[in-house]
Amino acid sequence: MDKFRIVGGTPLSGELPVSGSKNSALPALAACLLTDEPVELGRIPGVKDIATMQSLLEYTGARVERRAGTVTVHAKHLERAEAPYDVVKTMRASSLVLGPLVARTGSARVSMPGGCAIGARPINMHVTALEQLGATIEQSHGYVEARAPEGLRGANVSFDRITVTGTEDVLMAAVLAKGETVIRNAAREPEVKDLAALLNKMGAKIEGAGTSIVRIKGVEKLRGAEHEIIPDRIEAGTFVLAAAISQGDVVVSNCQPEHVAALTVKMQRAGAEVDETQAGALRVRCSGRPKAVDMTTEEYPGFATDLQAQYMAWMTVAHGITFVTETIFENRFMHALELARMGANIRIEGRQAIVAGEQRLMGAQVQASDLRASASLVLAALVATGETTIDRVYHMDRGYERIEQKLAAVGANIQRVGETMRVGAEV
Ligand code: EPU
Repeated sequence: MDKFRIVGGTPLSGELPVSGSKNSALPALAACLLTDEPVELGRIPGVKDIATMQSLLEYTGARVERRAGTVTVHAKHLERAEAPYDVVKTMRASSLVLGPLVARTGSARVSMPGGCAIGARPINMHVTALEQLGATIEQSHGYVEARAPEGLRGANVSFDRITVTGTEDVLMAAVLAKGETVIRNAAREPEVKDLAALLNKMGAKIEGAGTSIVRIKGVEKLRGAEHEIIPDRIEAGTFVLAAAISQGDVVVSNCQPEHVAALTVKMQRAGAEVDETQAGALRVRCSGRPKAVDMTTEEYPGFATDLQAQYMAWMTVAHGITFVTETIFENRFMHALELARMGANIRIEGRQAIVAGEQRLMGAQVQASDLRASASLVLAALVATGETTIDRVYHMDRGYERIEQKLAAVGANIQRVGETMRVGAEV
């Protein structure tokens, strides 16, 4: 199993380019199942979750070709409208094929995701919404089976709470339903808006994506299209924080600064200089320890839960006490225990972490528990004195493209050891 070995203490300097968004690419790839024509998607990141989605599409009978960052999917004939357990257990976002498969073929069989390191993460709201669109759903032997032999029909869907992939799943089902669907309390994340932009290029009629009310007029058929995925705002945020924690001077390029505004506003209050020096780039400078600034995770445009762990890493070396409140997932503080092994002073009280800033962290052997937790450990290691070894970096490979190479290019002393797997260009 691969590990990262990091020696902290070097301020990062130079340019960190951001890849395409994993969480936008995943639903975009699932959306390719909605048409029998080829769909070409640009800026698809070379990360493990994308490779998993590619295998899933191929399992259904779609042809998938990758050339550099461009992936073409041709789902001319679908042989199996199914997402098997072996795939879903490694990537929960596999449930994103439920909506498109039932819309295109009239049936879908998708393994139910089990528990997850960050919370229970059920898909009950996806299921209820698809029932409202007329699908008959049975859950047995660990699978959700959806049937709509006569096709789906438009409906009013109102989510009890905001769900990102739930909104995306319903969007992809509703585009081929008869009549109009209105989704209320829809997720406003940029990834939802990006998916709607792709679907509209394919011939869908969607209005309001990116707001909490989305209207979809069903069409009979979708066609092929070309689309470029948005930059990954979570990778961008991770890099902005990497620059600050290392007390460096870095330009984070190929990003959309407004997508990380909730983070950068806090960082400015904490003492970092973050400037949009040119379109699509943020220059980050930080010359000392930050001031403690409290943070609560929220749905977009609030502070992303996917950046909570990385922000907490920065606050472990702040002047003062930071209250970090996690409102989206019930168990997303696993990184706190590992950060504590590096000398961080963190107390967890339910959904709140109370972080008393320390003057310094110390390198240690730690292990990653999930994707964003692993990123927080890398950030902590960048500022810690001495050597840190991070085990289970396969979590990191699920969502960050060649992170060690990108960080090494701006001066980080980071190495992958025991390399058995190289994700990246060949996914
Ligand atoms: N929820 C339910 N029932 C449902 C769906 C969600 O109770 O049917 C709950 C969840 O358990 C959670 C909350 O609603 O407490 C919000 O979950 P949401 O459905 O929005 O999460 P998701 O769609 O499964 C996506 C991202 C996550 C990100 C969350 C929140 C993708 C592929 N995944 O997950 O990304 O944390 O939205 O923003 O888009 C990551 O990239 O590291 C990651 C975990």
